[in-house]
Amino acid sequence: MGGCRAVTTSPSPAAAPASDSALVRAARGLPVPHTPVWFMRQAGRSLPEYRKVREGVGMLESCRRPDLVTEITLQPVRRHGVDAAIFFSDIVVPLAAVGIDLDIVAGVGPVVAEPVRTRADLERLRDLVPEDVPDITESVRMLTAELGATPLIGFAGAPFTLASYLVEGGPSKNHEHTKALMHGDPELWHDLCARLARISGAFLRVQGEAGASALQLFDSWAGFLSRADYEQFVAPHSAAALASVADLGVPRIHFGVGTGELLTLMGEAGADVVGVDYRVSLTDALERTRGRWPLQGNLDPALLFAPWEALERRVVEIVEEGRAAPGHVFNLGHGVLPHTDPDVLTRVVELVHEVSAR
Ligand code: CP3
Repeated sequence: MGGCRAVTTSPSPAAAPASDSALVRAARGLPVPHTPVWFMRQAGRSLPEYRKVREGVGMLESCRRPDLVTEITLQPVRRHGVDAAIFFSDIVVPLAAVGIDLDIVAGVGPVVAEPVRTRADLERLRDLVPEDVPDITESVRMLTAELGATPLIGFAGAPFTLASYLVEGGPSKNHEHTKALMHGDPELWHDLCARLARISGAFLRVQGEAGASALQLFDSWAGFLSRADYEQFVAPHSAAALASVADLGVPRIHFGVGTGELLTLMGEAGADVVGVDYRVSLTDALERTRGRWPLQGNLDPALLFAPWEALERRVVEIVEEGRAAPGHVFNLGHGVLPHTDPDVLTRVVELVHEVSAR
């Protein structure tokens, strides 16, 4: 097959460029032909074609190979006809690119060889420059050429979520070392997060400059914080990461898990779209944020395992709730679970398009 086949499976008019796609329009609060839909973690283990190309290739290595990144990013677009591709990478890729010794362990997540807990540890964390990740630029360019009218979403981890992996040394249930540092040595904490904000911002910028149509900042673990701690210790750094790509003019999505109490603060950090997980309804999220931002979300990923009738009811409800928002991007409330039946995802895309057609 030719290498330059455009993937234009979305029902948006073929003439509309990715910068005027349903996803970008919804993110800007503009009228759309249908509610755009994509899924966090749509590229990955739920797809047999993903497991096949990943055979014998480590996760971090696969994120640095433009041939694999391109193929894996395109797989869910081809299969499901989603309205956006999410760049296949990981939030720890930029940390590895600046020399942090880490690995992504299957079934566990990112594991850092030497946790970052002291001023001397912080010195090991240098800034990211585009020359550290020429493969990311190349992958984004290849992808945008292949995707045509379908937008590519670039992403990065937010400073708090990255700090948690670095300080804990891996995934954490309680984030106790992270919070101990935050409250025990606020100056070191702020210096660490300021550096992570620059790394995160630089990684977003590389993807935006290479042609991504939207950028998402993942602050997956922000929901473990109180409002006061989020506001004082985290929001300024997420705001810095988001501000560093404001001039690119692409919509910025800000998402976290369990962040029902933080939605307004996350919007105020400089987001164009606020991501909502499944614990708060879109109607409540809209009220909490006073309709200031388009929303993204929020189907419970576990409901993809429920009988179709129950799932269908919930999808339709979410589409209906989303109509009241200034813009709505349909998504899950968190990532696709590994054992999800991919055919169910395809049906959800069809259903969202069908019931939201204007
Ligand atoms: O489809 C997509 O969403 C694009 C790719 C993507 C991955 N990670 C690929 C991946 C994205 C957007 C991420 C972001 C990410 N990575 C986050 C934020 C989103 C979230 O889910 O909260 C976080 C916290 C990480 C850190 C991380 N990396 C975790 C928790 C895991 C899972 C560990 C496991 O195996 O259960 C990873 C590994 C990872 N990242 C996989 C994929 C497809 C699975 C590894 C594999 O397939 O071998």
